[in-house]
Amino acid sequence: MKQREQWTSKIGFVLAAAGSAIGLGAIWKFPYMTGSNGGSVFLLLFILCTVSIGLPILLAEFIIGRRGQHDAVTSLKILAPGRKWYWIGWMGVGTSFILLSFYSVVGGWILSYLYRALFFQLSSSDYGKLFTEIIANPVEVLAGQAVFMLLTVWIVQGGIKGGIERASRWMMPLLFLFFIVLAIRSLTLEGAVEGLRFLFIPDWSYLTGKTFLLALGQAFFSLSVGVTAMMTYASYLPKEERLGQSAWNVSLLNIFISVLAGVVIFPAVFALGHSPSEGPGLIFVILPAIFNEIPFGGFFMIVFFILMLFATLTSSISMLEIGVSTGIGKNLEKRKRVAWMFGILIFVVGIPSALSFGVLSNWKLPGGTFFDFADMLTSRFGLPIGALLISFFAGFLMTKDETADELKTRGAIHSIWKGIVRYLAPLAIIIIFIASFWNG
Ligand code: PFF
Repeated sequence: MKQREQWTSKIGFVLAAAGSAIGLGAIWKFPYMTGSNGGSVFLLLFILCTVSIGLPILLAEFIIGRRGQHDAVTSLKILAPGRKWYWIGWMGVGTSFILLSFYSVVGGWILSYLYRALFFQLSSSDYGKLFTEIIANPVEVLAGQAVFMLLTVWIVQGGIKGGIERASRWMMPLLFLFFIVLAIRSLTLEGAVEGLRFLFIPDWSYLTGKTFLLALGQAFFSLSVGVTAMMTYASYLPKEERLGQSAWNVSLLNIFISVLAGVVIFPAVFALGHSPSEGPGLIFVILPAIFNEIPFGGFFMIVFFILMLFATLTSSISMLEIGVSTGIGKNLEKRKRVAWMFGILIFVVGIPSALSFGVLSNWKLPGGTFFDFADMLTSRFGLPIGALLISFFAGFLMTKDETADELKTRGAIHSIWKGIVRYLAPLAIIIIFIASFWNG
């Protein structure tokens, strides 16, 4: 039988985990959420939530995964024998399945934009209209989604060393590099300083409970916690790795790239006289318009969409890996077959999401269209409930000896972490969960 793989290096794991974290959450969602919720105040709360709640749960996933050394379901069975807690793992498989079914739709939009940018068809006098046209075209969205899923399966079927680690090794550093280049370009536009002011000088009138809740939700989604993705990645880690440090690194990289995305986008938005509260279309509608108006804009636009594609793929592969690792269990030779099977199934389930902005736009489900429904199932239920149970599991079901052994310390850090995963994090999640119903 084949040996279970392990990451070949610490940097390989950190890059892969950061790759899972950094995706549409940081590059697409963070800028428009920040733009619509008061700029710097949202940024501050996002950082606070990431460090005080997201990071401890991320660490909980790392600890459970590395202790278990198996897919999430098996690891939880090993750590709590004879109990039903392994259902957290099955929930993760289900949530990641639905998550990927609509995440791949947005991945497909990116491919559409990239395709159009590459073939010089992305100039328009009305980018809002162009965006609506693209996402309503059934052939284009389905083709985009199919190609995106093909790419995801192709990387995952190669296994963690051959596929995921190798891809992350060059994709992530390239992402940072290009983002810095884009930020410099954006910052040298006339009037850019207004964007920096928006992002860094707080307007305290935005400090409300709602902004707080949105920031906490953003921290979870963008750290990939609650779905067992990080648990699965950590199961490929050797015993000697320092988990606390890895969780710090991943969280800091995620904050860094989110802020960088803001530094790329807001100076340009202000310099070119657009509104920061453009909503979910901010990137897709505003950026092409901005790039179209600056020197070498066509080139920058292509680079930007390639970056978005990379970032989205390193997240989607972690979502697929959850189901694949569970599906193959100990039969490692089944990886290719299971990856293709899951990929095709997810594509099929995602078809109504892809068509939600066109032919199926009138099909109303709880939450809105099929796309909105899938989004609601995951962001409102799957992720928070998963994060809550994981936090509880690490806090109460794992013994102090087990967690201290994984953390390699019994000192204050261990006690603070234990306190957060036992009380603070579950309480915060329950508050978000309840408040999200009030906010409609
Ligand atoms: N963190 C990813 C992003 O910000 O795009 C989304 C994500 C990936 C969520 C993997 C959950 C997951 F398991």
